[in-house]
Amino acid sequence: MADILPRLWFPLSAAAATTGIILLIRDYVHGERCPSKATMEGKTVIITGANSGIGKETAKELSKRGGRVIMACRNMDKCKEALDELVQETGNKNVHCQHVDLASFESVRKFANRINKSESKVDVLINNAGVMRCPHWKTADGNEWQFQVNYLSHFLLTNLILDKLKAAEQGRIINTSSIAHGHGKIKFDDINSKDKYDDVEAYSQSKLALVLFSLELSNRLEGTGVTANTVYPGVTKTNIGQHKLSKVDSVVTKPFMWFTLREPARAAQTGIYLSVAPEVADKTGKYWKDTVAIRPAPQGNNEEVAKKLWDLSLKMTGLPEDMTSNDQSKEEKTS
Ligand SMILES: NC(=O)c1ccc[n+]([C@@H]2O[C@H](COP(=O)([O-])OP(=O)(O)OC[C@H]3O[C@@H](n4cnc5c(N)ncnc54)[C@H](OP(=O)(O)O)[C@@H]3O)[C@@H](O)[C@H]2O)c1
Repeated sequence: MADILPRLWFPLSAAAATTGIILLIRDYVHGERCPSKATMEGKTVIITGANSGIGKETAKELSKRGGRVIMACRNMDKCKEALDELVQETGNKNVHCQHVDLASFESVRKFANRINKSESKVDVLINNAGVMRCPHWKTADGNEWQFQVNYLSHFLLTNLILDKLKAAEQGRIINTSSIAHGHGKIKFDDINSKDKYDDVEAYSQSKLALVLFSLELSNRLEGTGVTANTVYPGVTKTNIGQHKLSKVDSVVTKPFMWFTLREPARAAQTGIYLSVAPEVADKTGKYWKDTVAIRPAPQGNNEEVAKKLWDLSLKMTGLPEDMTSNDQSKEEKTS
């Protein structure tokens, strides 16, 4: 035994050092944790797609911090299940499920009307729900699925409840995009991919639209105190790949997933930071990754395209042309 120990010392130390380095790299790959301990007591937050993945983890943390959390989901059974888990884990009973199906403008309008009636203010709106690379489906309104679910319905919802965000001490709008926005192009001549559908192109377009939305919205909200930012959560272990990941993919990629893909709780950190931190109260129109504002891809910084997209989005959602905010008469006109 005494002979073996000195011989094992080197391989064991090397193995321990390698493991340490791997864990450090993994931690780096998985991004920053929210550095702010700020509370959400007295604050109301709406999170779309809060029953799963990044949205659910965001809802959990904001509940833990004492917020009034409205989980805006399309499937009430899944929402209730997630709500029960949240209440049990956080002890916060001020968490609520509300129905919204982003594939239907009518559903978005009904949801917005309920919020406008029940809430005196909304402190944080997190436009998180999304779908990735689905087949060429059409929504109830005749639009390409990803463009409406990921972007257009969030555009509509945000505008319809904007007065509630303005009524907050300092309202915050957070749009969830993706690195895929960098491959995106807004196809003004074929926005719904009628001529040619490519699921990657359509996802990228929808995620670029969200970056441009934050840019234009932040300009329009200047002087109101309400901020609009975009987050990129990182590549994360969630259900978002459900339309594309084959069984073979899952088996082959699984061993690498532990190392490279983020846990949803980690991916949620930047959105949580933008929701709670006092130091970002005046940061607007920015693109965030790992709790730091970075430059989006060049096409995400194009103010001309952002304006053109805004005008098109007004037409497609049926909002009034001069809509920069939502007053009661405009809302009644559009509902
Ligand atoms: N995971 C990643 O690697 C990654 C990377 C970059 C960006 N993102 C973005 O992060 C956001 C959250 O996605 P995730 O990764 O957490 O995926 P997820 O687990 O699939 O969560 C997506 C959420 O969106 C909801 N949703 C889908 N269609 C909806 C509709 N028509 N109406 C209302 N809600 C709908 C889903 O509800 P159901 O459960 O009912 O389907 C679910 O709650 C998405 O915007 C995604 O594009 C994710």
